[in-house]
Amino acid sequence: MHHGLTLPTPAAAAPLSLPPGLAEFVDLGHDSDTFGPDVLRGLSATPKAIPAKYFYDAIGSRLFDRICQLPEYYPTRTEMQILKAHRAEIARLIGPDACLVEFGCGSLAKVRQLVEAMPRLGGLVAVDISRDHLLDAATALAEDYPRLPVAAVCADFTRPLSLPGIAQQRRRVGFFPGSTIGNFEPDEARSFLRTVADDLGPQGALLIGVDLVKDRETLERAYNDRDGLTAAFNLNLLSRINRDLCGSFEPRFFRHHAFWNEDASRIEMHLISRRRQRVHLAGRSVLFDEGEAVHTENSYKYTVEGFHRLAGEAGFRPAQTWTDSQRLFSLHFLTVG
Ligand code: AVI
Repeated sequence: MHHGLTLPTPAAAAPLSLPPGLAEFVDLGHDSDTFGPDVLRGLSATPKAIPAKYFYDAIGSRLFDRICQLPEYYPTRTEMQILKAHRAEIARLIGPDACLVEFGCGSLAKVRQLVEAMPRLGGLVAVDISRDHLLDAATALAEDYPRLPVAAVCADFTRPLSLPGIAQQRRRVGFFPGSTIGNFEPDEARSFLRTVADDLGPQGALLIGVDLVKDRETLERAYNDRDGLTAAFNLNLLSRINRDLCGSFEPRFFRHHAFWNEDASRIEMHLISRRRQRVHLAGRSVLFDEGEAVHTENSYKYTVEGFHRLAGEAGFRPAQTWTDSQRLFSLHFLTVG
């Protein structure tokens, strides 16, 4: 009997103790190492590409946290303003005794706004693939709100989840801030939202942040900051390959390139080879032509109507939408069904 605690692998025989303050901890063991095969496959393809999820090693996560504070990167602070301005109404829509489920929770900074506004919240489930970061963030939150049951689920949140006990017998309301939905291809976004609708159940709802289509200048500035942090974030992918896959990349022989692709309604990030070069990684070698691009990220931007359509196709009904006065960013309360 271990109170909802699931051991990460059958081989992990040592009993794990429940981290202090947490009501439950579930490890779904989704963190298998796919980095090497995915990078090799992506660099053998034409055009070359690496999935954006691999930006977030320890260094990449720290760089991303700093990007979120940049003056050029408007999404984080704008979403926070919208949340603060409407938190009483959001709390009313969520209702008493609900359980919040944050998908890809990171540091849990934004959800604190909601927790503050909801003294009668029934529970909070934090879901993230990065185990140590998840446990730190969830235990810190549990310490700060000792009367709130907090559970942590270590999982790839794009897969169907088995939610812990505190989420059963309660209305489940998902929280997916930061416009992370924009890093999915539209088809993937639809199927992810369908999975979320199943996780949340027929009484469920989802509060989701979505970056909006706007002028090219504002968008391109947000991904080409003056301090070069976004460039460092992009180039860190090569350093990560060097560290984790015995790679021989010289990051200075590549440059960051980010631009607004209006037809596809997305910011694209690439790494451009400054010269013809051969690079070794994981026991293989890859040739780059001068000027050849590795596509590292898409960040889709939606109109309010476009996002409502996508959410509707995934089984959600838009109940309320808030934007800031400049219509830079949107926050949506969607109900299941
Ligand atoms: C996490 N995601 C929503 C960010 C974005 O804006 O697409 C990642 C990012 N890439 C460059 N800057 C920030």
